[in-house]
Amino acid sequence: MTTQTAGTRAPGAPRLGNATALSCRECGKTSALGPQYACDECFGPLEVIYDFPRLTRADIEAGPHNIWRYAQLLPVPRDIASRPTTEPGCTRLVRADGLAAELGMRRLWIKDDSGNPTHSFKDRVVAVALAAATEMGFKVLACPSTGNLANAVAAAAARAGIRSVVMVPANLEEQKILTTAVYGGTFVTVDGTYDDVNRLASELAGEHEDWAFVNVNVRPYYAEGSKTLGFEIAEQLGWRLPDQIVVPIASGAQLVKIDKGFGELAELGLVEDKPWRVFGAQATGCSPVAEAFDKGWDVVRPVKPSTIAKSLAIGNPADGPYVLDVVRRTGGAVADVSDPEIVDSIRLLARTQGVFGETAGGVTVGVLRKLLDSGQLDPDAETVIINSGDGLKTLDAVAPAVPVPAAIRPTVAAFQAAGFDGTDV
Ligand SMILES: Cc1ncc(COP(=O)(O)O)c(C=O)c1O
Ligand SMILES: [Zn+2]
Repeated sequence: MTTQTAGTRAPGAPRLGNATALSCRECGKTSALGPQYACDECFGPLEVIYDFPRLTRADIEAGPHNIWRYAQLLPVPRDIASRPTTEPGCTRLVRADGLAAELGMRRLWIKDDSGNPTHSFKDRVVAVALAAATEMGFKVLACPSTGNLANAVAAAAARAGIRSVVMVPANLEEQKILTTAVYGGTFVTVDGTYDDVNRLASELAGEHEDWAFVNVNVRPYYAEGSKTLGFEIAEQLGWRLPDQIVVPIASGAQLVKIDKGFGELAELGLVEDKPWRVFGAQATGCSPVAEAFDKGWDVVRPVKPSTIAKSLAIGNPADGPYVLDVVRRTGGAVADVSDPEIVDSIRLLARTQGVFGETAGGVTVGVLRKLLDSGQLDPDAETVIINSGDGLKTLDAVAPAVPVPAAIRPTVAAFQAAGFDGTDV
């Protein structure tokens, strides 16, 4: 469907499995596999293309219990499963009957990516970026980050025994600061927004040729890691595509690549080719893609973010226009929810499913609710939502809303006096 394939790898190109070349997403010009990320003809972003072999479900099922079971569909060396990586993926797909009942839905699933090694989906993209970067001769793993990527890069580099350089806005959640610093790489907090940090990273990438900024100069490889979310969802559903999927958007790469993953499985005959609809979720305080969708624009107008969903606070999303393409092609939508709705949705997910998502998860559940109310999502269709990160990393967002009762004396009388033996407790 959406997959482009191309002949054989150019002589001397890095050995990245079945990947054969890079192709410009704007003008289609192909170039050899290598460390470039923008088209030399039109500056458009580049995409990895492959020459896939015949592949069966059994081949994949016989692989390791992590994303490397899909190595044949990724730009990684063939021996990747035996190299030191964080081994992300194969997170649980939870049947969400409690949340479905609350929302009047029939078949709802949560892909709970908080179960990854550093508790977000970013471990997937970083593992692929690291594998490709090492093969291309980079010596340092680096990134600008809204927090989760910082955790993933610092951990993956520590595991692989190489240096990391991680840069974040200084106003990040304390949990995300500590859970990056603990891995001991170079950690830079910047007085500015994510978009400022991203600009600084692009300038540094120009000066340090052996630094792989995972989401800047090796972005074509990095982004491919999110296809594994799509692959796993289909495999966990019994090799079937869902009817609808709701995905949080920051840069938009995750959403675009889940759709690409579904397309590749259908093209390879690993699932039945049937329509699926892709929906995007943003926080109102940073909703440039939702605005463009709403107004029917093809381009995304940058905004200055102001939201508790800091992991999604990218005001100038690199994949914004491609999100619009995917959502419009599949008959989906992009919507946004306010900060109070995000907090409320985090609590709803926790209360109905026992899953504690971070603010990005609250955004996704909030948009699920909103699009059901507006009739844009079908309550009877099989639906998957992504919980892309762990609530333990964004405690400040929910702390003011979650009542914690005062301590009692350790006596039955005190227990009863506080009303804890009532049937409603
Ligand atoms: C928890 C979480 N979910 C979703 C996203 C969005 O991913 P993307 O930038 O690929 O749209 C991010 C990005 O940082 C994130 O940290
Ligand atoms: Zn081009």
